[in-house]
Amino acid sequence: MLSTDVRSTFLTFFRERGHFRVPSSPLVPDDPTLLLANAGMNQFKPYFLGEREPGHRRLMSVQKCVRTTDIENVGRTTRHDTFFEMLGNFAFGDYFKHEIIPWSWELLTGHYGLDRDRLWVTVFRDDDEAEAIWRSLGVPADRIQRLGMADNYWSMGVPGPCGPSSELHYDRGPEFGPEGGPAVDGERYQELWNLVFMQNLRGEGTGKDGYEVLGPLPARNIDTGLGLGRLTAILQGVDTACETDMMLPAFRFVQERAGREYPGRHGGEVSTSMRVVADHARTAAFLIADGVLPSGDGRGYVLRRLLRRAIRHARLLGIEGPLLADLTGRVADGLGGEWPELVSGRSLIAKVVSVEEERFDRTLRQGSRLLESAISKSSGSLPGRTAFELHDTYGFPIDLTLDAARSAGLTVDEDEFGRLLEAQRRQAHEASQGRKGDAVARQDLYRGVLARHGRTEFVGYDGTSAESRVVALLDGSESRTRAHEGMTVEVVLSRSPFYAEAGGQVGDTGRVVTPSGTLEVLDTRLGLDGLHVHTARVVAGEVGTGEEAEAVVDADRRAATARSHSATHVLHAMLKRVLGEHAAQRGSRVEPGRLRFDFAHFGAVTDGELATVRTLVNDYLLDDPDVRVWEADRAAAEAAGAVALFGEKYGDHVRIVDIGDASRELCGGTHVGHGAQAGPVHLLGESSVGSGLRRIEALTGPDALRHYDREGELLRELARLLSVPADQAPDRLRQRLATLAEAERELTALRAADLSSRASVLARSAQPASGVVPHTGPTGAVAADVLAVCAPVDGVPADSLRGLASETLGLIPRPGAVVLGTVADGKALLVAAVSEGLGIQARDLLGDAARVVGGGAGGRGPLANAGGRRTDALPEALAVAARTVRNVLG
Ligand code: SER
Repeated sequence: MLSTDVRSTFLTFFRERGHFRVPSSPLVPDDPTLLLANAGMNQFKPYFLGEREPGHRRLMSVQKCVRTTDIENVGRTTRHDTFFEMLGNFAFGDYFKHEIIPWSWELLTGHYGLDRDRLWVTVFRDDDEAEAIWRSLGVPADRIQRLGMADNYWSMGVPGPCGPSSELHYDRGPEFGPEGGPAVDGERYQELWNLVFMQNLRGEGTGKDGYEVLGPLPARNIDTGLGLGRLTAILQGVDTACETDMMLPAFRFVQERAGREYPGRHGGEVSTSMRVVADHARTAAFLIADGVLPSGDGRGYVLRRLLRRAIRHARLLGIEGPLLADLTGRVADGLGGEWPELVSGRSLIAKVVSVEEERFDRTLRQGSRLLESAISKSSGSLPGRTAFELHDTYGFPIDLTLDAARSAGLTVDEDEFGRLLEAQRRQAHEASQGRKGDAVARQDLYRGVLARHGRTEFVGYDGTSAESRVVALLDGSESRTRAHEGMTVEVVLSRSPFYAEAGGQVGDTGRVVTPSGTLEVLDTRLGLDGLHVHTARVVAGEVGTGEEAEAVVDADRRAATARSHSATHVLHAMLKRVLGEHAAQRGSRVEPGRLRFDFAHFGAVTDGELATVRTLVNDYLLDDPDVRVWEADRAAAEAAGAVALFGEKYGDHVRIVDIGDASRELCGGTHVGHGAQAGPVHLLGESSVGSGLRRIEALTGPDALRHYDREGELLRELARLLSVPADQAPDRLRQRLATLAEAERELTALRAADLSSRASVLARSAQPASGVVPHTGPTGAVAADVLAVCAPVDGVPADSLRGLASETLGLIPRPGAVVLGTVADGKALLVAAVSEGLGIQARDLLGDAARVVGGGAGGRGPLANAGGRRTDALPEALAVAARTVRNVLG
């Protein structure tokens, strides 16, 4: 059975039972509590919690999932994958155990034809009901096992939906492991399908089994997940997902490049490496297609680790040179039919993995030498110091070192590694503190304020003014009790409506008025987490600690900033829509009426794309979407798979801003109440700010309008000058430019003709060099060995004078010299041209004359010029030049 049939059999089965298909959510989930999509039910969490109503009570999906919690096992066992497709059916307050258990049995044994004698079942330890249903289907009691929370209970997020589960396992036979059912060996008795009876709410606390179950959900639900790769492998008679038809193009390619065939599941390290390379390349391709780019933290770090691990295993297989770009292409060959994003994202994926491969190869070469020599010197355990050095100097993730050590039969002293890492963090922290000097003293001051007075109560989300009290006045690293008019100090208030700069949004400004004085707030920032520090100048009277204060934010400026912030979110969403999911935010600056947005993208954004983004952003905002701000708990949900592993910092509470349906972001900033209040948004342009990093700058609200007004004014001015209505201005200007070009062409031709006729008149004024004097009239035919022209000329532009001299010289029938003088641009100008055969430099003819007009002569060879300020001396200069000609050539 082909994998496409495995999918369609599942979907047909549940469609016949009233299920409606929902597309897979992207791997980068909409849910701020989750790093990467890891189960089909993720996108339905609000339905389970009763927060939102599903449009349909029975849904089904084929969900892309990434799980890297067990990454060390991937490639080593035959059942772990970092990416998999999960076939799932879901019911919300609809059917329950009595339906899903028989259905799952019918589908597996009837439609997929699995041997019922090889199926095992696990149920939650006190779930008599589930066991009874299995028994009624003929599953013998000795193939039903009861397990605890760790195995047969599922949850997602805190608080989040949870419930007991029942799992179906397939016995792959004694060659895979010992007898005894799933409770004994997960490799032999492979889990295929998890049926979760989602009925409770999980709480923050820890219960006896690891977590607290708070009580029932509004309704009883079903959430199931059937691993497509595992099922397909069984149906195709192979051991691993890598060997199924979905992965064959990629897996064969790995074997081809390694120059050997896959030796099967007993092939030791070679088999492991081949499977790691194929599996990780697949996961990487899907992640990049959904907008993840390699980086040092979060999702980007998951991707980077996968790529680095894949590269290392490829090198272990002896595959040298670039592999991943081609390999991810093969992944698309196998899976692109079902997942078109692999095909449309192909070139981006290839580019991203190539860059990463090149980069890692360099460090790998150096690190591997160190690792190999350390391994050869160690017995039993690899020193933690070595692992640390690899991590620190060569960027080897610890799991690569663990992996390599494990292959050599060694363990790693992970405790020592951990200690060194911690020590380094501390040192780095202290060093940076030391460098800051004064800043440290100030931090101490802030800490003292925080300890004495507690956190600033921020009340700026709901309004722009507040009754408050001055709790501290800081001057540099000193604390004071009063500040006088003219002083600039840092002010801490008990409550503050001033937004402190964060998340790219600038801090608020405004006023603080106390009974004895007034402060002008110039900026607000966070001194410490929870401590708002206002930089302020005393503009009247004096201010003392302990005084009551009225704090008032500059509301217009705040509103202008809020517009830019909401516009930034919508711009982000629309950029992704136009350029692809990879175009994720990398930085931003949100200011009153203006924003700057940096995002990941290879290559420039075209004018067409930019125009589309602009239209989408403005249309979306003008539709006036609701802006909804809500909060959620975001505790580390280990069961959800992602959080603990990636070392991201998660606050307990996060704030989420929705603008309509298309934009949802984690955000602490201030926003408009309705989308239409943000617009219009005018994109000023796009530029590069680093490799793979682009920047868009934009104006918002009245600033955008003023910009349009200015541009409109310019256009009207142009139209007035052109004497046409504005909409005809471009055509009229084009016409005018064409006419002008034509006129210029004519003028050039006329000038050339004019110069030629002047040159011939001048040529006719040639005299014998021995008797030349400044002269313009014709001389009639003269006979002499060397002829010379020396003449003042009128009305010749400065840049034509040299040409005129050369042309005149060309028309003289003998070897000769031409000296012309004119007044142009307020200067006396002289040019000399001399025939090459005479063996003199034209410049020699002008030296004395140049001095007469108060300048110097320049130029080399047969053409020279001179200029000076004394225009009135031009006739005398020409006379001097004529004398020089007589002397030199006569
Ligand atoms: N949520 C369960 C799982 O992921 C069933 O879909 O295993």
